Amino acid sequence: MAQALKKLTVQALKHKSPESVIYGTRRAASQFWGNVEMGPPDVILGITEAYKKDNDPKKVNLGVGAYRDDQGKPFILPSVRKAESIIHGKGLNHEYAPIGGEAAYTSAVAELAFGECSQVIQNKSNAFNNTLSGTGALRLGLEFVTKHYAKNKEVWLSSPTWGNHPQICNTLGLPHKKYRYFDSKTNGFDIEGALEDICKIPKGSIILLHACAHNPTGVDPKPEEWKQLSQAIKDRELFPFFDMAYQGFATGSVDNDAFALRQFADDGHQVMLAQSFAKNMGLYGERVGALTLLCGDQESAAKVMSQLKIMIRTMYSNPPLYGSRLVKEILTNNELKQQWLADVKQMADRIISMRTQLRSGIEGAGNKQKWNHITDQIGMFCFTGLKPDQVARLTKEFHIYLTKDGRISVAGISSKNVNYVAEAIHKVTS
Ligand SMILES: Cc1ncc(COP(=O)(O)O)c(C=O)c1O
Repeated sequence: MAQALKKLTVQALKHKSPESVIYGTRRAASQFWGNVEMGPPDVILGITEAYKKDNDPKKVNLGVGAYRDDQGKPFILPSVRKAESIIHGKGLNHEYAPIGGEAAYTSAVAELAFGECSQVIQNKSNAFNNTLSGTGALRLGLEFVTKHYAKNKEVWLSSPTWGNHPQICNTLGLPHKKYRYFDSKTNGFDIEGALEDICKIPKGSIILLHACAHNPTGVDPKPEEWKQLSQAIKDRELFPFFDMAYQGFATGSVDNDAFALRQFADDGHQVMLAQSFAKNMGLYGERVGALTLLCGDQESAAKVMSQLKIMIRTMYSNPPLYGSRLVKEILTNNELKQQWLADVKQMADRIISMRTQLRSGIEGAGNKQKWNHITDQIGMFCFTGLKPDQVARLTKEFHIYLTKDGRISVAGISSKNVNYVAEAIHKVTS
């Protein structure tokens, strides 16, 4: 035994293998993590890093998906400011929230999504949870599906989709595939392609849908097209999971932006819904979101909720309170709610106005290409159709930062830089 140990120690020393650490004969720089593979950096955060390092005074960051005001600054919504002072005045304690969150919060946010008069939230057959923003809701929802929905099911994602969707599926070992969505010829929605693909998706699969303001394309189906999608999804008996990270951001109206979700609920789909209040309340870092499952009957709802609670309890125990208190205050205080609806509209309107100015700037410079998609697309993002080499030129020559796929965050454009950005786009595309 002693002989064998000695032999191993000698070998370990020679090859600098992890055994060398165990026997204490030689110390690696990291005792445990030397073999961890370096992961790729986050694409969006990588762009922001590069932007920060650039010292050119004309630099523009169109990569980050956070709203900015016309001075390029983060925007604190007046309604949120008021809610903060109301909550402060209440002198609330800091006890734990229930595992699934406060009921007053979860029902207020479900009402916002499905509509005050919605039948689906009047009954008690749903599972509601306050989650760690939209990402937390997606992760919890997909993990729940992995454990409790029929085995070996695939998740179908729009092509393209938000980069975190496939990443979450990968983390959970959930197979994922794509249905056609964006038509690069028209820079619009490919309804024929989407319907054709959906009709071939294996029955019972999960389909992930962006409720509004599709990221990254800014292309949403029209109401009539949503109706067609709802029917096709019903025919294939698919399970619709709505990701609603931008309610109000697309059209400036929270009700208009909830059209698809409400249509599906009216059509009898038992949807699952991930909500985020990062963008529409500017509560990015507070991590406020919700996961709602329509379960059909009370017994199923109770069972689903019991399993979700087990998952939450073993992950983060219960959600943070501050952000959800703000959201609840805004949604349940009529005066504050009216102020918030005006705040959301103000953000959406600024984005819409920047789209108009950007398009007319490019066209006004004499550019011969079509740019109608800049104003046809909605929400925070615009899929410009710029090719990777054109994107590279924008960054290298004009200090304008965006993702390689040509997506720009219109919220990064302001009256100060819109002409500069338009001129630069004109130059790299002519
Ligand atoms: C499509 C989509 N879903 C969900 C989210 C979730 O964001 P958060 O976790 O910040 O709420 C985002 C944020 O960029 C998004 O674009």
